[in-house]
Amino acid sequence: MAVTSKRLLLSDIVSFDKIKEIPSNYIRPISQRPNLQDVVHDSIPLIDLHDPNRQHVIDQIGQACRDHGFFQVTNHGVPESTITNMLQIARDFFNLPEEERLKLYSDDLNKTTRVSTSFNVKNEKIASWRDFLGIPCYPVEDYIHEWPTNPPSFRDHAAEYCRSVRVLALELMEVISESLGLDKDYICGQLGKHCQQMALNYYPPCPQPDLTCGLPAHTDMYVITILLQDEVPGLNVMKNGRWIAVDPVPNTFIINIGDQVQVMSNGKYKNVWHRAVVNRDKGRISIPTFYSPSSDAVMGPAPQLVTDDEPALYSQFTYGEYYDKVWNNGLDKSFDTFMSETNSSN
Ligand code: OGA
Ligand code: NI
Repeated sequence: MAVTSKRLLLSDIVSFDKIKEIPSNYIRPISQRPNLQDVVHDSIPLIDLHDPNRQHVIDQIGQACRDHGFFQVTNHGVPESTITNMLQIARDFFNLPEEERLKLYSDDLNKTTRVSTSFNVKNEKIASWRDFLGIPCYPVEDYIHEWPTNPPSFRDHAAEYCRSVRVLALELMEVISESLGLDKDYICGQLGKHCQQMALNYYPPCPQPDLTCGLPAHTDMYVITILLQDEVPGLNVMKNGRWIAVDPVPNTFIINIGDQVQVMSNGKYKNVWHRAVVNRDKGRISIPTFYSPSSDAVMGPAPQLVTDDEPALYSQFTYGEYYDKVWNNGLDKSFDTFMSETNSSN
């Protein structure tokens, strides 16, 4: 069995130690292995966001949220050059020498800008096959001074990307609100001081991709996620009990509903299980933007969606309580456990 390396980041274990077997702390129990041979290639809805018929966009997004919880958007308003630059600085960042990447290393969850690995190295028994750089992005001016200065264009390109993706996030939240029959500002109005965060994920090539995961199956704890991925496949989404691979389409974003939309919609829209799998030959970059409430924002079903026939499925809670639970308990069992505990204590 391979020995556990002293290096902090997985990419450096992979590139310096030239391992042929993955370290034992990355090996998942059989029930959590990805069974890659069973993953099917299928598509998720692809929606033109600026179709002149707005009602058509609202209907398509509503249907996608009900049926899948996941969809892709084209014609989304984020310029192609902004996307290309963002992917390039992410690649350049992960190609920096180890000591340069480690300058921002921290396993402290309270540190807003940080480089780390896996999910939460402080409390997890099984590690995930990824390194990441997490940065807060809204308002950009409040955080840009924390961001990397290497590669030299990092701050400019990332700031442009964050601003542009935020416009998209606001638009999506409007359409999702309208598709639920709510006022278009409903979701935006529930979030307190809005939070936008971005992760730059790097999943290094893996000598034994059948034994481990880049990120294990989870739902996203946020409101919505806007995912940009490079040309290497790796995202799997659960659909009708099967894992489907969502192959990259250039210049589109993958959108998914987070736990908070499931709550606000009183269960009409479902958060969806997804995971990142890894492969033998190619490193993969993905860049999710997470849009979320501030920690003091109170989450609960929209009153308009609670009726005698459809009573509230969730009690109210603050987003901060939820966030802490997920980071401390691990990615996989968050939503249902939290909701049943919250409901029974009220
Ligand atoms: C995430 C996530 C998927 C991917 O970061 O929450 O689900 O393909 N990422 O990287
Ligand atoms: Ni996710």
